[in-house]
Amino acid sequence: LNEGQILPDQPDIKIINRQINGYVGFANLPKQWHRKSIKNGFSLNLLCVGKGGIGKTTLINSLFNENFDIKDNNNIIPEKPLDLANEDEHGNETDEGLHSNVKIETITKTIEENGVRLKLTVVDAPGFGDAIDNTNAWEPIIKEINSRYDQYLDSENKINRNLNDDNRIHACLYFIEPTAHWLKQIDLEFCSMIHEKCNLIPVIAKSDILTDEEIIRFKERINKQFVERNIQTFKPPVYKLDDKETIDVANKLYESLPYAVVGSNDFVTDPTNPEKTIRGREYPWGIIEVENESQSDFILLRDLLIKQYLEELHERTNNVLYENYRSEKLINLGIKQDNSVFKEFDPNMRQEEEKKLHEAKLAKLEAEMKNVFQLKVSEKEKKLQKSETELFARHKEMKDKLTKQLKALEEKKHQLEMSIQSQAQSSPAQPKKKGFLR
Ligand code: GTP
Repeated sequence: LNEGQILPDQPDIKIINRQINGYVGFANLPKQWHRKSIKNGFSLNLLCVGKGGIGKTTLINSLFNENFDIKDNNNIIPEKPLDLANEDEHGNETDEGLHSNVKIETITKTIEENGVRLKLTVVDAPGFGDAIDNTNAWEPIIKEINSRYDQYLDSENKINRNLNDDNRIHACLYFIEPTAHWLKQIDLEFCSMIHEKCNLIPVIAKSDILTDEEIIRFKERINKQFVERNIQTFKPPVYKLDDKETIDVANKLYESLPYAVVGSNDFVTDPTNPEKTIRGREYPWGIIEVENESQSDFILLRDLLIKQYLEELHERTNNVLYENYRSEKLINLGIKQDNSVFKEFDPNMRQEEEKKLHEAKLAKLEAEMKNVFQLKVSEKEKKLQKSETELFARHKEMKDKLTKQLKALEEKKHQLEMSIQSQAQSSPAQPKKKGFLR
């Protein structure tokens, strides 16, 4: 800024540049920042969502030059062919495979480049979009994002705060099938649920199977559908003080969304230099180079995610997305806060807020415990009632049985008496025998 120039955001403030006589030292601040960053390293928690086999692992491996095969790390659900998906091993019908069964799997690796460390966590959602009925397939994923926010909120409220371990999701790569058609219901449903929870970066997977024209048309359709549904993808921020080049890059990165990407786990001979190998896909008709800008948007994705806007992804997660979640949560707990003004930090207010949060938590816990207690008591009562009725039933049954037996015995006795009587009547009285000799 030149002397006297007006700062764009604050029209009333004039900037006055002054040359300092002598050395103060704050010109070294960027160096301090640099040293601190090298020491602490960087982190990125990346959520990858898309159908099984759409190319998630391959793209992550290509982006970070690593092997992120989640199947090596975790248990993988064996896939059944679709037509057998709702039959068990005996051929009986089950509803497995019919309804979505989305799991959450996580893999973390620290990777290093030129002495700079990046702790990368990839969160995968196997099972997403693989069922016949995918209603609410987004639910376990949103739950996972919320629980990570809750965990952060909890650690913020602890006396010994450890906010360095930030498990919040910083970006979501959503993999769109390369159909060159329109987005499906499941895509729109997921994107509209996720875009206010984390930075959404949609990609068209395996775009090497589409022609350039198909890609252009497909992107237009997708963006039209996003506008209709009011779905917002991550927009690299531009600041008024940015130079033209930075603004152009940011605009290009935003306008090229969704990125048509290609991934590969293989290295092939560089067509322009037989001495070199490059990441690519070899087909009978030629080679697709993953990092060739004229062949895919892979480089744009890498620029946005890592090279240019990693910090902005963190900042938006913290300042906008998490802040919205946090205030909504506090409001639900009955704590009001004013987001429209950035107030000065007031320790008393903070303490009051923490106290309220703590009390609200305790009250919630107490209510939950009461609920559990009541549930247990009513379960016990039900059990007692059940055994009482069973006991009554058994008693009645035994009584009935005994009455029946008594009746039968009385009947028998009566018949016996009758038969004795009739015998006595039919045979006249015999003279008494007095031995063999008369
Ligand atoms: P799950 O782990 O089962 O969810 O699969 P995934 O989404 O991680 O897919 P993965 O990366 O394992 O790729 C599945 C298959 O697609 C592999 O044979 C890959 O070689 C292939 N593939 C991956 N990326 C591309 C791509 O950009 N283009 C083409 N044509 N094939 C790809």
